[in-house]
Amino acid sequence: MNNMNFRRVFRDLPQIETDRLTLKKISVSDAEDLYSYASLNSVTRFLLWSPHLNIEDTRGYIEFLNRQYKKGNYADWGVFLKSEGRLIGTTGFADFDFENNSGEVGYVLNPAYQGNGYMSEAVSAVLSVAFDRIGLERVNLRIMEENKPSMRLACRLGFDFIKVGEEPLNVKGEDRIIHYYSLTKEKWKNLAV
Ligand SMILES: CC(C)(COP(=O)(O)OP(=O)(O)OC[C@H]1O[C@@H](n2cnc3c(N)ncnc32)[C@H](O)[C@@H]1OP(=O)(O)O)[C@@H](O)C(=O)NCCC(=O)NCCS
Repeated sequence: MNNMNFRRVFRDLPQIETDRLTLKKISVSDAEDLYSYASLNSVTRFLLWSPHLNIEDTRGYIEFLNRQYKKGNYADWGVFLKSEGRLIGTTGFADFDFENNSGEVGYVLNPAYQGNGYMSEAVSAVLSVAFDRIGLERVNLRIMEENKPSMRLACRLGFDFIKVGEEPLNVKGEDRIIHYYSLTKEKWKNLAV
């Protein structure tokens, strides 16, 4: 990975426009929109974090994101629906493996906005940052076995199923089987043609 590219992207998280969405930094004024879905068990069921218990949890998370933005560390973009001007989800990098020039991506969408292709559109934009701007060779996803909507999203974007994790991961007291998906820069370039 070219460290210069990495630093250039994250020193001031870029705003990205897609057909229907704007991906940009989240601010405290987005707390109500974020809390409306981050507080739901149905949303966090297959995530590593637990539902926000109150709006203060959400504000605390947004403050954490803002510290990351300021430090030039990677942190999620807010996904804003242009037609309503409101935050409907988040996506971004969950991890980087500098040695292998790869990164992991994550995403969460308010259930009220699911089923419209919004998150596929947003993650596509993140993949473009990953491959074109940072210069990664591979992007990975880790998806819990029962999370079929996430697996469909992975396949829609061209990710290949790689393997089922050998050991279950204990997440919030439950053993979860993890499915690994991966997309190479080469495949992504061919899909984009
Ligand atoms: C994973 C998650 C983002 C998927 O949401 P989603 O709305 O299904 O994903 P998209 O926004 O890409 O929309 C795709 C759906 O919209 C439909 N759709 C409608 N119009 C579309 C369009 N213009 N383009 C693409 N898809 C479209 C697709 O057919 C698809 O539905 P299907 O899966 O029933 O076939 C959502 O379930 C979620 O946030 N879950 C909770 C958090 C989570 O588990 N995150 C992932 C952790 S690994």
